[in-house]
Amino acid sequence: MPQQEFNVPMSKPDIGIDEIDAAASVLRSGWPTQGRVTEKFESMLSQYLSSNVCVINSGSSALLCALVAHGLKPGDKVAIPAFTFIATSSIPKMLGAQVVVVDSDPCTMNIDPGSLERLLKRYDGGIKFVITVDVAGMPCDIDALVDLAKRYRFTLIEDAAESFGARYKDKLLGSHDHTAIFSFQIAKQITTIEGGCISTSNKKLLQVIRKVRDYGRNEKERYVHDLVGANFRTTDLQSAIGILQLKKAEEYISNRNKIAQEYRIRIKDSIHFQQVPNYVSRHSYMLFFGLTRSKKSRDQLVRHLIAQGIDARKSWTPIHMQPCNPELHRFRCSNAEVIFDCAFTLPIYNAMSRAEARLVIDAFKNAPGIG
Ligand SMILES: Cc1ncc(COP(=O)(O)O)c(C=O)c1O
Repeated sequence: MPQQEFNVPMSKPDIGIDEIDAAASVLRSGWPTQGRVTEKFESMLSQYLSSNVCVINSGSSALLCALVAHGLKPGDKVAIPAFTFIATSSIPKMLGAQVVVVDSDPCTMNIDPGSLERLLKRYDGGIKFVITVDVAGMPCDIDALVDLAKRYRFTLIEDAAESFGARYKDKLLGSHDHTAIFSFQIAKQITTIEGGCISTSNKKLLQVIRKVRDYGRNEKERYVHDLVGANFRTTDLQSAIGILQLKKAEEYISNRNKIAQEYRIRIKDSIHFQQVPNYVSRHSYMLFFGLTRSKKSRDQLVRHLIAQGIDARKSWTPIHMQPCNPELHRFRCSNAEVIFDCAFTLPIYNAMSRAEARLVIDAFKNAPGIG
């Protein structure tokens, strides 16, 4: 069913007259491509995250630039969680890396540090990078992963594409020592339509990322290229939208949390939800996940909700089961496989109203297969 036919869509951007005016004013300025407005957006993001931020034209490109800047080489082994969106595996693979998958925690849906440690031992120092993912906007156990990174000497990259504004032990994701990437694609907590950024505590690395974003260009000689890079730049048109979105980020994330609480309190029956551990000071709910007891009841439920005009969706196919990853089909990640069978998402977005949330909750009445 196309999005406009749903009573409650999966996602809806909150782009208002202010964003339209800001974009129009950049167009009128005569310099719509990357320039001063993007610099301002970067400095506001750096302040918000208490870090050093480089804006990039998508979350995927941000992951690619981060891996290149950290020196990933073809053949390097990169561990990633089994339950994530496909970009987490496709980007390192496009750079020639060898991806290995780690099982996810069945309750939090995030990477399971215990499974990761077993894999690190099995590969005996062979894993160079671990890309962790904060699924749906919920921080993974950063302290546990940083501890593993020190003991097993790998580079930790946080794919926080879904998690702008989330907090781990009172600290915003993106303000830690390791490098993190975010996406500003249309369904995210803040959007530039398509876009993203990299946040790093390392100022030297920031300079390398900036170069990779702009063809590896030498600062003084425009047509001299020190590094192999490409065009991952954004536009001031988009950054003007991003600046206004960032000003509303706290309001957006707070509304997403209110909607999620409504769902958690009012949808009972036999539905479970993504478990939120104590170390999570704030989920940022890019997605809202529910879990049924079986694949059959999940499929019946999603069909029922769609028939009621609610854009409920099944979850991602795990990385090791994707047709584009035949070399990973030998991996067994039983928790991710159960999540795949039983998980579904419900609509959640920045300006979602209580009335819209109520339509979703009411659609659960008389739902088959969940009693
Ligand atoms: C975990 C994860 N990584 C990377 C990306 C890629 O971000 P983008 O769509 O901005 O390229 C996404 C997209 O939502 C994602 O969910």
